Amino acid sequence: MPWYLKVEQMDRIYFDNAATTSLDPLVLEAMMPYLTEKFGNPSSIYSYGREGRLAIETARKSVAKILNAHPAEIFFTSGGTESSNTAINSAVNDLGCGHIITSSIEHHATLHTVEYLASRNKIKLSYMKLLPDGHVDLDDLRLLLSSSPEKALVTLMHANNEIGNILDINAAGNICKEFGAIFHSDTVQTVGHFPFDLRNTPVHFITGAGHKFHGPKGVGILYINENVKISPFIHGGGQERNMRAGTENLYGIVGFAKALELATANYEKDRVYISGLKQYMMGQLSEKVPGIEFNGDPEGRSLYTVLSVSFPKTEKSEMMLFNLDIHHICASGGSACTSGADQGSHVIRAINNNPNQVTVRFSFSKHNTREQVDTVINILNEIA
Ligand SMILES: Cc1ncc(COP(=O)(O)O)c(C=O)c1O
Repeated sequence: MPWYLKVEQMDRIYFDNAATTSLDPLVLEAMMPYLTEKFGNPSSIYSYGREGRLAIETARKSVAKILNAHPAEIFFTSGGTESSNTAINSAVNDLGCGHIITSSIEHHATLHTVEYLASRNKIKLSYMKLLPDGHVDLDDLRLLLSSSPEKALVTLMHANNEIGNILDINAAGNICKEFGAIFHSDTVQTVGHFPFDLRNTPVHFITGAGHKFHGPKGVGILYINENVKISPFIHGGGQERNMRAGTENLYGIVGFAKALELATANYEKDRVYISGLKQYMMGQLSEKVPGIEFNGDPEGRSLYTVLSVSFPKTEKSEMMLFNLDIHHICASGGSACTSGADQGSHVIRAINNNPNQVTVRFSFSKHNTREQVDTVINILNEIA
């Protein structure tokens, strides 16, 4: 049996696809030549190098076309964290933003970056109000911007990785435009899962990470709108049009583009299938597991891949993730990026600070099945 079928179908049930996804075998196939015979440095002028350069520029064109952007607006990076760090730091250092407006439920790639800048007195930091369903309050954004004498950077994630809420990126961007603010959106959970039309979206920076849509880890993109001029983010060689120095992650870049192409080609089919799984799990949970609550806006503006569930706290449910793990079920207590930290999720704390509940995030991919949902429900029923 091939490795990818073993991983997806044998003993484990993997319901943590918002943390990362399995590599698509077709993506690996596209990457393989660049891990083996096509090993040249893309900056070398002889044929080995030229092959690599061509692969990178072909990948850039393909990514740009899918996102309806210009190839010159796409920069390859090491992933979502680097892309957000770059966008935020550039807005402060190069674009004159002295005020950052964000929300308390952003990913740590954003939160820790803006907190660091604030701690160094480089910016004033404001957090927007949240609505009871976990959406950010766009009226509050307008209020904060209208009373900001300084040029502002607004940084809001397109979709929340823990509760799945989706921002109306056009509405937020239009408010920013009205007040001349720079707008960055962490789109790590939506690139590869939703269509983008960047030429017609009022946003200056967006981000993406290959491993969230069956591509490789350690590669991502930063989109920088062509009207935004920033200085290089890593100094050294002339890679990425002098903006990000260092020999490129050639096979990663090829894999990123291939994964995005596959996700785009199958978007409608996958969305319908995965939405069906999420709906099914919601229905089964409501019917069979007493006392549960869903977090966020799961039936409204929400990722079809993410379902955040709070269970009543009992001795058994307190050990929920551990108990699920014993049954070979992979799920997450919040952001995977904080697993190991014992503070719990800052997102859940901000929207539903109920000490008598235990929260688990289930996140799905095209490889999950209803049978897996049934198995998980039975085990949850035992635990809860
Ligand atoms: C919303 C969001 N932003 C940023 C990141 C970080 O991306 P990466 O792991 O590629 O640095 C993640 C990954 O968990 C994420 O879910």
